[in-house]
Amino acid sequence: MIAKIPDQNDLIEMLTWQFDMGIDEALLDYPVVPSQQARMGESSALAGGLAGPNAVVVPQEESKPLTSENKTKENDLKNRLADTSSKNNGPEYELCTPTSPSSITSLANLQAGLARLEECPLKHTASNLCFADGNAGSRLMIIGEVPGRDEDRVGLPFVGDAGQLLDKMLKSFNLDRTSTYLTNLLPWRPPGNRTPTSEELIMLKPWLLRHIQLAKPEIVLLLGGAPAKFFLGSHDGIMKLRGAWCDMDFGDGIIRPTLASLHPSYLLRSPAQKRFAFEDLLLIVDRLNMEVKNNKSS
Ligand code: URA
Repeated sequence: MIAKIPDQNDLIEMLTWQFDMGIDEALLDYPVVPSQQARMGESSALAGGLAGPNAVVVPQEESKPLTSENKTKENDLKNRLADTSSKNNGPEYELCTPTSPSSITSLANLQAGLARLEECPLKHTASNLCFADGNAGSRLMIIGEVPGRDEDRVGLPFVGDAGQLLDKMLKSFNLDRTSTYLTNLLPWRPPGNRTPTSEELIMLKPWLLRHIQLAKPEIVLLLGGAPAKFFLGSHDGIMKLRGAWCDMDFGDGIIRPTLASLHPSYLLRSPAQKRFAFEDLLLIVDRLNMEVKNNKSS
């Protein structure tokens, strides 16, 4: 069906409705319209989905003059748009969102900077930023994959089933969230738990590196295939990568012994593999003890 292109009155109605729904910025070059056009009636040429390059375009009818009600709405919209754009681009935003996180000197500012990273699409689909949990002064930093549904809801890493299993495993080695610091490869849940894109990983990498540098752990534990491959620069699977120490420089010239291990979500699905994860945790605890001995004797 070919429908007519909306006139100015229709467009103001549509924009007002979008604004009321909290939509105040464009994410794509062309609009994506839900197939039910209940609010637009028959008048939208965009009905039926993507109004991109394949949209059917028909000549526009002569436009009707603006109704006085829509004239008021148009002015109202202009004011509201001016209001949001000044909020988004004000000096506070520029101060807190440096182009490079390497200039940030505290974890609190790093978290604040990430919270304002408007250019990352994941920020706009996630419910909450999952920055970190545990104790930032810990000798052991644990880096998981991406927040899941529970983490996205609560705004903390590892709070769901996988997190509870991780807590139990740590506890059996006398570790807990007061003696570890936890974050993820990405601080926002990708929509529908999809795999992060390489653009997202590249955009957020400097933030994660700075996170590690500011947290200053002695030892890093990478949980799961995604962080292991990402940091160890390998295409091998986690079963090959796990359990072997690697000396890693996370960008500050400090070498940190780093170990990859199995992700607790995987262990929930394949409990028989838990023994490997325990072997890896044993390596971590031995290394922590060894560093203490070395520090005492030096
Ligand atoms: N899986 C992760 O890797 N991280 C979380 O925070 C939760 C589940």
